[in-house]
Amino acid sequence: MQFSKKVDLFGAEVFASLNARRRELEAKGRDVMDLSVGTPDFRPPQHVIDALRESASDPNNWKYALHDKDELLKAVCDYYASRFGVEGITPDMVMSCRGTQEGMSHLCSALANPGDTVLVPDPCYPIFQGSALLVGAKPWFYPLTAEHDFLPWVEGIPDDVADAAKYMIVSLPANPVGSVGTPEVYAQVIAFAKAHDIVIIHDNAYSDIIDGPTPGGSFFQYPGAREVGVEFLSLSKSFNVTGARLSFLVGRPDIIAATRKLRSQVDFGMFLPEQDAAIACLTGPREQVETQRHQYEERRRALCDGLEEAGWERPTGTGTMFVWAKIPGGRTDSVQFVLDLMEKSGVVVTPGSSFGPSGEGYVRFALVMPPEQLREACRRIAAAGI
Ligand SMILES: Cc1ncc(COP(=O)(O)O)c(C=O)c1O
Repeated sequence: MQFSKKVDLFGAEVFASLNARRRELEAKGRDVMDLSVGTPDFRPPQHVIDALRESASDPNNWKYALHDKDELLKAVCDYYASRFGVEGITPDMVMSCRGTQEGMSHLCSALANPGDTVLVPDPCYPIFQGSALLVGAKPWFYPLTAEHDFLPWVEGIPDDVADAAKYMIVSLPANPVGSVGTPEVYAQVIAFAKAHDIVIIHDNAYSDIIDGPTPGGSFFQYPGAREVGVEFLSLSKSFNVTGARLSFLVGRPDIIAATRKLRSQVDFGMFLPEQDAAIACLTGPREQVETQRHQYEERRRALCDGLEEAGWERPTGTGTMFVWAKIPGGRTDSVQFVLDLMEKSGVVVTPGSSFGPSGEGYVRFALVMPPEQLREACRRIAAAGI
């Protein structure tokens, strides 16, 4: 059977091959510590579980959803005001999506045609590249490197590329590199978008996982952002609801309407009990989110201390649930390094090269265990002597 050319655009998934090796080790009785996948080990808040359960017990809520409930749209608008201090977000500026991952592919189909240039960070969360490839667009990778604090550096993008580009994905705090946006960087990105007529897609998945006294913000806090772009607000990591697929596309009404038009061809909308769970996330108490933010900070400190003691360079990132660490000894074969590490220490991490060519020489740790277990992982890494 000859499948479509699109199928060939995607290689074997790195997590699948690592998992296969990991299962082999476990079958041999090895104690494996998996720090490769970013699924939070924290629980969803109880009031969110209760809202979903109650809503699912109403048979009417099992019908096609067709629309976002008014109450849900209002909850997102109010959340922007109360959580980020961003006033003036109106219901026509909001659309639910079944996770940012899926929303990104609808949005990219609404913005780009086959052959169009689009700007994507390298290294990046894989859907940023995947959504461009699905549309047939040509991703131009702008690097996130240590030299520029792992932040977008628009001056490094040639003018002809910028003039050709339809959209630019900016995602801060950044997975996998952990960098956090600054007002200066956002000002540069917005000016760049205006100068070259580019839509900015800001993916905001980690504003609640940032070290320091206060949580992160929204793209729309910065002057000019509303004219140039849209933002994905995922609830996955803030509320530990990764499997429920709760996310929103927020921003320019024309972009929201075009994306909704395409999406409605293939999707009848978010399951109503999930809409109620999302409302509970957005309108409920925030203590758990804030406590968790500090717990991630403790985890990051424990892991970075442990890696430093094991002779690694101390990682610099302060955001996301990940730590981006340079492989010691100048090794630039991250896939082989990860396999060696798994073999010798039982610790599983993700090779940097799986996030793009600029990720080579690094590995990503997910902060999915309490501090004492992360310290134990570092002791094993040190004892492995690689
Ligand atoms: C940068 C980034 N965006 C989005 C997501 C996922 O969002 P969702 O669960 O809403 O698809 C992740 C999850 O790892 C991520 O790292």
